[in-house]
Amino acid sequence: MATRINPSILAADFANFESELFRIRSADLVHVDIMDNHFVPNLTFGLGMVERLQQVSPLPLDIHLMIDDPERWAPGYAEAGAYSVTFHAEATTEPVALARRLRQIGARAGIALKPGTDVTAYLDLLDEFDQVLVMTVEPGFGGQSFMEETMPKLSQLRSQVEKTGLDVWLQVDGGITAQTIEIAARAGADTFVAGSSVFGAENPAAQIGLLRERAASHRHGRVT
Ligand code: DX5
Ligand code: ZN
Repeated sequence: MATRINPSILAADFANFESELFRIRSADLVHVDIMDNHFVPNLTFGLGMVERLQQVSPLPLDIHLMIDDPERWAPGYAEAGAYSVTFHAEATTEPVALARRLRQIGARAGIALKPGTDVTAYLDLLDEFDQVLVMTVEPGFGGQSFMEETMPKLSQLRSQVEKTGLDVWLQVDGGITAQTIEIAARAGADTFVAGSSVFGAENPAAQIGLLRERAASHRHGRVT
């Protein structure tokens, strides 16, 4: 199981994205939070911004859509060349159809679950997705505290992935630090989004290395 560290540019300097991306080039993907001020009470950036990031980023883009009506908007991000496009389960009634469309365009398709959303309905649909994002804070803002009560969802997902042998990445997002990453890794996450703990560090590259090492050494199922 690979470990992936995806810094969130929500915590970067909004006036200097290109140089901020250069500071995190030892990461795996760059996490881009799209918020519409409707699905969540905050507004970030949209497709035009992502098209430009796609041109300058040394890392593939991991798009997290916190928006209503993803059927309308998500395909555009896949068409822009994003490596991964994740929409929220709570924002759609047709998650499988949308995931199929994203895959058809050539992106990895992800589904995100807010902390209060049950995972059960998705366990038997895992072959339709390339990633499940278990939100470890309420979506909308960076800098919040990790919600450990979301961990049972990861454990359920990890055992289903093991049972089926599918290549589905299990992502956590929100409050991931050098401490909380160990909890999430043990519960079964393999893909870690970190905003403030990476961009707030004096040396983001060193912090990425530390997160990677902590996650790997606390990997689910590892006997220590
Ligand atoms: C929250 C976003 C996160 C956010 C994480 O709604 O989806 O990606 O940037 O920020 P930290 O790591 O600061 O909790
Ligand atoms: Zn996010």
